[in-house]
Amino acid sequence: MKSVLSYIDANTDRYLKELGALLAIPSVSTDAERVQDIGRCAEWLADHMRWIGVQNVQIMPTQGHPVVYGDWLAAPGAPTVLVYGHYDVQPAEPLDKWTSPPFEATVREDNLYARGASDDKGQTFIHLKAVEAFLKTKGALPVNVKFLIEGEEEIGSEHLEEFVREHADMLKADLVVISDSSMFAKGVPSICYGLRGLAYMQIELVGPNRDLHSGSYGGSVLNPIQALSEMIAKLHDTKGRVTIPGFYDDVRKLSAKERAAYKKLPWSDRKYARDLGVGALYGEQGFTTLERLWARPTLECNGIWGGFTGEGAKTVLPSRASAKISMRLVPDQSSAKAARLFERHIKKIAPKGVQLSIRSLHGGEPAITPIESAGVRAAIEALERGFGKKPLYQREGGSIPIVVQFKKILKIDTVLLGFGLPDENAHGPDEFLHLPNFFGGIRTVAHLFDVLPQFTRSGKA
Ligand code: BES
Ligand code: ZN
Repeated sequence: MKSVLSYIDANTDRYLKELGALLAIPSVSTDAERVQDIGRCAEWLADHMRWIGVQNVQIMPTQGHPVVYGDWLAAPGAPTVLVYGHYDVQPAEPLDKWTSPPFEATVREDNLYARGASDDKGQTFIHLKAVEAFLKTKGALPVNVKFLIEGEEEIGSEHLEEFVREHADMLKADLVVISDSSMFAKGVPSICYGLRGLAYMQIELVGPNRDLHSGSYGGSVLNPIQALSEMIAKLHDTKGRVTIPGFYDDVRKLSAKERAAYKKLPWSDRKYARDLGVGALYGEQGFTTLERLWARPTLECNGIWGGFTGEGAKTVLPSRASAKISMRLVPDQSSAKAARLFERHIKKIAPKGVQLSIRSLHGGEPAITPIESAGVRAAIEALERGFGKKPLYQREGGSIPIVVQFKKILKIDTVLLGFGLPDENAHGPDEFLHLPNFFGGIRTVAHLFDVLPQFTRSGKA
């Protein structure tokens, strides 16, 4: 390992420059005008993987954005790791909230700022650089590695399930490793074993058949914005619980053991509130913040629009109003059922005088991954070597939809090895990657490849 680790240390500047080049490509998956950049980003990755020495590198089409695949399979008898990541990013808007341009990676203090720095180009790059360190120093890896880097994670991995099904043979592996989540805190590495699922809905209310003068008509017909806000306000009760009947029916109860473990984590509500600039925290009564984030389902209004939002005062009673509402789900909820319950309830509470339409935009399932697997035990050892500290166990509130499909289709478990930080502004302005985690991550993944065979030898990963 000595030569591998010194190679990493000797090449930090170049690693950073290369990551900067990857981050310069605005591969925003939601944006139809960015398809060329998506293609360019896939090409960049494929070229880079070939340069590293990854074999069978291919850009593989899907119904949506392409997948970048590559492997190195010359370690007979050793375990095979499927590394999953995503090269697509969220939109960078609002641009004026960024301190430096989102697609010009900039180092300030020991952070690298750019859209995708943490989520997920930077974290995916960690794995490529660890592989490079082995291939350029030893010409070989201690394990077999397959890379599956997709371009649609941020829009729900819509076409990836079919891709995995169609290429199940190609993707065969002993375990999946994903770095697309966070460590518990700076200097506190962790193993994540749970992700929430997601059901994303859009509703529209149409009132009068045209925008009306609010003086001539106000008071005579129901304003769809009022109707919509009243409906949204009704979706939570005074205890912070979601009021949709049946919503909590399938929620797996937090075990006493888990609750006790969460209580022991180094956490301060006060610090959390202060960091977010809120005077008080909010959530479901009877649960702590970490329980609310990791193990309880929630409902959020992501956006609401309608009527006049321009400058000045225009007196109008608008014809329509819309909202995007998502539900984060936990085991054993299903996104299809949550969407059904939502639809039924929304129909019931929609007042007379408006016409309602509901669309389901996306569904993804919650995941719990085993913490006793050989993969996790190897990852713990690797984190200890890479960061000099024993990791703790945590769940996450976010979603990575393909995790459940890997288990279902490929029958393999995932190790969630996050190198981000919870406050790295993923999806927001000034997203960054903490550089000590970037380099610590590369060392950790190198150690993981090194120790994994010892851990899997005694059985399946
Ligand atoms: N990296 C995140 C997932 C994540 C977020 C894990 C926070 C742990 C903590 C991922 O790229 C993401 O944002 N996923 C989307 C998925 C959705 C579009 C289906 C999410 O969670 O909103
Ligand atoms: Zn994301």
